[in-house]
Amino acid sequence: MKPMKIAEGVYSLRINDFNRRLFDSLIPLPEGTSYNAYLVKGSEKTALIDSGDPGKAEVLFDHLKDEKKIDYVVSQHAEQDHSGSIQLVLGRYPGAKVVTNPKCKELLMTHLHLPADKIIEVKDGETLSLGGKTLEFLYLPWVHWPETMGTYLREEKCLFSCDFFGSHMATGEVFSEEHRVYDPMKRYFAEIMMPFRSNIKAHLERLSRYDISLIAPSHGPVHANPKFIMEIYKDWAVSEPRNKAVVAFISMHGSTEIMVNRLVSRLQEAGVCVEKLNLEHFDEGRVAMALVDAATIIIGTPTVLTGPHPKVVYAVHLANLLRPKAKFVSVIGSFGWGGRAVEKRAGLIPNIKAEVLKPVIVKGLPTESDLALVDALAATIAEKHSGLAACVEEKAAAV
Ligand code: FEO
Repeated sequence: MKPMKIAEGVYSLRINDFNRRLFDSLIPLPEGTSYNAYLVKGSEKTALIDSGDPGKAEVLFDHLKDEKKIDYVVSQHAEQDHSGSIQLVLGRYPGAKVVTNPKCKELLMTHLHLPADKIIEVKDGETLSLGGKTLEFLYLPWVHWPETMGTYLREEKCLFSCDFFGSHMATGEVFSEEHRVYDPMKRYFAEIMMPFRSNIKAHLERLSRYDISLIAPSHGPVHANPKFIMEIYKDWAVSEPRNKAVVAFISMHGSTEIMVNRLVSRLQEAGVCVEKLNLEHFDEGRVAMALVDAATIIIGTPTVLTGPHPKVVYAVHLANLLRPKAKFVSVIGSFGWGGRAVEKRAGLIPNIKAEVLKPVIVKGLPTESDLALVDALAATIAEKHSGLAACVEEKAAAV
């Protein structure tokens, strides 16, 4: 993919990685990813914004093959997928200086061994003129690390947002289309941004005071529709959860699944939108996405030895790290001879500040009276959900 002009003097240097299937040795990448750098050319100086993953440095240098001079490398985030090629860029352009904030400087020196004398520190709100192009640096901590920042190009009303508003997508499309980017952005939000919802709320409020025409993230396509992008982020990060329950389960011999199926049926009959996830083989990103707007999380687990099924433990641990905004949680399941799954699960989710609804744990194959307890749990959930907004799937079905 060639450098693409996205505004006057601004070029997208898209570095697609179609074949990458895992990020951080954890996050599945069903659509690959891209590491975006951008070139901003003023009348006097040229700035490179982010530099991409060092594993794809040859693509960056192919984009830059006609650039004789780079004056500044703006480092918005020290994580290696955005900063890992900086040393190589400085090798190619020895006169260039790295521009970043003090926290990012510290991390670049720690992770990349960048020399301090190559780095110019900028304060929050400080500007840098390239000649007719003014870069304003905006500290945006915790989207995704504490040092992350964005860069606002005043003349073109373009926000370079780094991980913020990104999506793991390798694509030849320069600009996003709303129907195409929604799911990859939600997946990305769920995996990377969800734990930082309160920071995101503050950042959205700050950015609402800027006149933004383009959002140029460092993963995925550029957004020419910032209002839509900001609104979906507001929905995911700030709004109340929706009328949706996630039922995530494992069943070893079928008893827990009988309970799960009963619960799902009763919830649906009561008008609750349900996402049922079998954790036997699961995609961490899919589970994370399901949690973004759910008001209730139900864990269905059998007992293995004296605790919950280990795959359930892994999924619950992940959910706890992601800090979803669920208001209610519960557990259902069947045990054969040891039933401490509930107590052990409760200790795994200290980060989820949700009301625990009375679990339903039964011995062996559930009886009709056991299933009546499942029905009661479903009724309680439906009552707790009264007044919540329709889930996105329901809204789509109603259109
Ligand atoms: Fe895309 Fe936090 O790195």
